[in-house]
Amino acid sequence: MNTVWSKHVQGINTLYLSRKLRFDARFSEQYRSLFRLDPHRQYRILEIGCGPGALAGVLHRWYPCAEITALDRDSAFLDFARSHEPGITFLEGDATCLPFEAQSFDVTVSYTLQEHVEPAAFWGEQHRVLKPGGVCLCLSARKGIRQLAPCLETTEAERIFWAEQPDAEQEFETWQVCRFPCSEAQLPAAMEAHGFRNVSTGYVVSDLTPDDPKYSAPMAEAMIEAERQNDLEAVRSTDSPRAEQICGLVNAKYDERLRLYRAGIKQWDTAVSLAMILRGER
Ligand SMILES: C[S@@+](CC[C@H](N)C(=O)[O-])C[C@H]1O[C@@H](n2cnc3c(N)ncnc32)[C@H](O)[C@@H]1O
Repeated sequence: MNTVWSKHVQGINTLYLSRKLRFDARFSEQYRSLFRLDPHRQYRILEIGCGPGALAGVLHRWYPCAEITALDRDSAFLDFARSHEPGITFLEGDATCLPFEAQSFDVTVSYTLQEHVEPAAFWGEQHRVLKPGGVCLCLSARKGIRQLAPCLETTEAERIFWAEQPDAEQEFETWQVCRFPCSEAQLPAAMEAHGFRNVSTGYVVSDLTPDDPKYSAPMAEAMIEAERQNDLEAVRSTDSPRAEQICGLVNAKYDERLRLYRAGIKQWDTAVSLAMILRGER
């Protein structure tokens, strides 16, 4: 049982809630026009590094005729995914050694996985399991915008708490996170170098601004809650004896943010994420 990622790198709620928002129906047309998949075809789709399963869930809705298999190394993510995203086969496995026969899928897809996996294995394994003409979709998070509301700024107690924790870069090294970062130019070049044809790129913008009236109250509150859970899980992942005390401060900040939202006192805090979509054919 491997729970390294969910315990030490990103928690279940951090990934699941943020992805639910980024892949919300409001943004789906942007993704689907770049994927260029036929919603009526009975594709066999493999998602690699699926985490708690939010993308697998939306793929199931966007491509209802497809048979979807989703794989990850972390068993806590998979347990969560199985109980929250029905209709998908979730499997434990390694992206560097996919447990499938050659030429067995029509589509492979991943989101925020490439930078963690050795490139020859990342691209080579997908090339191996794709059928001739199959589509590889590599989704990569690029630098977005995060503007906090004043009530969410880091407090002095939190600053001291984080200063006492091991350095984030050291932690990344320990858990072998983000060892293979690629620029927006290196990514399509890598895909071509590993044998994919007709490589194309595009970008999807998901702008999450709770105070913008285009968002319903449930969606605006879901944005605030996703940020809250992200911050709480980050504090708890330290295993510090002071974690619960700091979580109390975090909760107080987000309770205030919700109060302001409900009172119509606008903060215009925003989280804009930018996803690069690479599409190549085997
Ligand atoms: C940044 S998370 C993204 C998860 C998911 N795609 C999402 O966006 O919610 C990276 C995921 O890749 C998984 N992962 C990392 N290296 C892996 C490997 N070699 N094989 C399978 N999964 C891997 C981790 O367990 C984690 O779930």
